[in-house]
Amino acid sequence: MTKITYIDYQGNSKTIDVENGLTVMEGAIQNDIPGIDADCGGGMACATCHVYVKEEWLDKLPKKEDGEEDMLDMAYEPNKFSRLSCQVLVSDELDGLTVSIPLKQG
Ligand code: FES
Repeated sequence: MTKITYIDYQGNSKTIDVENGLTVMEGAIQNDIPGIDADCGGGMACATCHVYVKEEWLDKLPKKEDGEEDMLDMAYEPNKFSRLSCQVLVSDELDGLTVSIPLKQG
């Protein structure tokens, strides 16, 4: 189990123990975090799982694949902290990761 903190569009934060091997998106869905809809179920085809990662975590996450970058271009206000949460696998190295959910996804 790895602790992931989700900050919703209202600034409420929730820290959850997510099973390793799940994605950050799946951890949110299983725990009813608002704002991560994951319409495509993790297929990198919707961008409704878009999150912003805290700066100190940017380099610790697995690198983006080309498809993720393309899909993020279609997300709401992407920036250099943007990731698709369905593409980030939870592991011990991510313990303490904090992600926030864009306002528009509320
Ligand atoms: S769930 Fe659709 S892109 Fe992540």
